[in-house]
Amino acid sequence: MLRLGVLVSGGGSNLQAILNGIQEGIIPNTKVVTVISNKPYVYALERAKQQGIDQFYFDPASYPTREAYDQALVDYLNKKEVDLVILAGFMRVLGENFIHSFPNRIMNIHPSLIPSFCGKGYYGLKVHEAVLSYGVKITGATVHFVDTGTDTGPIILQKAVPVLEEDTPEILQKRVMEEAEWKIYPKAIALYAQGKIKIEGRIVKTDF
Ligand code: GAR
Repeated sequence: MLRLGVLVSGGGSNLQAILNGIQEGIIPNTKVVTVISNKPYVYALERAKQQGIDQFYFDPASYPTREAYDQALVDYLNKKEVDLVILAGFMRVLGENFIHSFPNRIMNIHPSLIPSFCGKGYYGLKVHEAVLSYGVKITGATVHFVDTGTDTGPIILQKAVPVLEEDTPEILQKRVMEEAEWKIYPKAIALYAQGKIKIEGRIVKTDF
């Protein structure tokens, strides 16, 4: 049984897509054992609560340093015997100690086709605003392993989505979520759960 720990900061629609994937058997032999938020009262925590899943708000203000906060997360995830850490709209950069505690065992979803519109300052709606102001005609989403850079880790899956002339950032965000994020995140976790992911340097192979 693959044990997931999901880190969130907001609505949790990706968390929901993962829970649905598990329920529908698209993600086999997998369980979400805890949902952790760095923000209080977010709907993602409510979703976990409704499903009877362990959920926890870790308040950054309660820890003296960023390292102490990250270590508290590591300790809790280890206590819950988490195999794979899932960042699902977690809007906080994790330090090197956290990343090294789960080598190639942290996945993230980013709402663009990496390496475009990613890195420092590109998160949530800001990504879609940047996509629209640049005028690209195709965007999408990326699931990748997390390394110590921002959005630089090995890419697992990507899916493209068209940008339409009448799009607002909100409309585009919704299309990227519905047509890309909610499909590729459950799929990437399913591949991992089935042992179908091999990492060679920064290249991820899923068809071997
Ligand atoms: C998603 O669009 C996700 O790709 C993005 O935040 C949103 C969270 O939505 N993540 C990032 O921008 C990370 N850099 P959700 O809480 O409904 O899953």
